[in-house]
Amino acid sequence: MKKRDFLTIRDFTASEITALLDRATEFKSGKAAGKKPLLGRSIGMLFYKTSTRTRVSFEVGIYQLGGQPLYLTQGESQLSRGEPIADTARVFSRYLNGIVIRTFEHKIAAEFAAYSSVPVINGLTDTHHPCQILADLMTIKEKKGRLKGIKIAYIGDGNNVANSLIEGAAQMDMELNIASPEGYAPAPDILDTQARINVVQDPKDAATGADVLYTDVWISMGDKDDIADKQQKFAGYQINDNLLSYAKPDCIVLHCLPAHRGQEITASVIEGPQSAVFDQAENRLHTQKAVLEMLIE
Ligand code: CP
Ligand code: NVA
Repeated sequence: MKKRDFLTIRDFTASEITALLDRATEFKSGKAAGKKPLLGRSIGMLFYKTSTRTRVSFEVGIYQLGGQPLYLTQGESQLSRGEPIADTARVFSRYLNGIVIRTFEHKIAAEFAAYSSVPVINGLTDTHHPCQILADLMTIKEKKGRLKGIKIAYIGDGNNVANSLIEGAAQMDMELNIASPEGYAPAPDILDTQARINVVQDPKDAATGADVLYTDVWISMGDKDDIADKQQKFAGYQINDNLLSYAKPDCIVLHCLPAHRGQEITASVIEGPQSAVFDQAENRLHTQKAVLEMLIE
């Protein structure tokens, strides 16, 4: 069977995403406990950027499925001395059964996947974070009972999380309003192909009647934007109690974490009763186990 990668949300069909979320729910409930599909398998984790959730949830998930995780930073490998991606990918494929990569430009992950004969999973690039969005979809389904027709308002930077959220919302027939300051909306190539995605500038317009409010940091890892310009332009793009009052009364609040209280979200909202951020973080583990089980032979 040809190996499959998970580099963007669009690598899975809507029915595959539904199946993955159902399977993740079985892992979470303990129904799939004891399953060891990765027994005897080794999964490499090549990280060019720091991580808390992605690293720990993958390492633990691989262990729980019977496999061996190998964590490696770019700086600790010969990549740091200029060994080509293509060579690294081919060498890794001779030892490993799958690779999780967290890197800068998406084309690095794509090149890695092109030269790897084993599945490559994107643990975040500058423009995509598909594993995050699977956990987000699981969290929304848990809290709201469905995905279709759910109205999400994303407030903030048109970054990797926003891009993958756009793809996930489109795949699962959800409505997504995005409020970003001028110059920081998601790239037109992501937006052009998608239905039911509305880009606005006023966060209140985006949040009105929303089932889910979502935000992410103003400054991402490796961000090359003008930081001072961003800090200034994003000042009004915060999920706070006032913005929350425009959403539905039972709206939930998501944040992929790590969060900066007082910037993109207030402490009162992230610690408040509508916040689902720690369930969301937990669901990284369950959804990634479902992905590993599906892709790794
Ligand atoms: N949300 C997320 O990917 O967190 P980490 O950067 O800690 O992995
Ligand atoms: N947009 C953030 C997400 C971190 C999980 C970043 O890329 O730094």
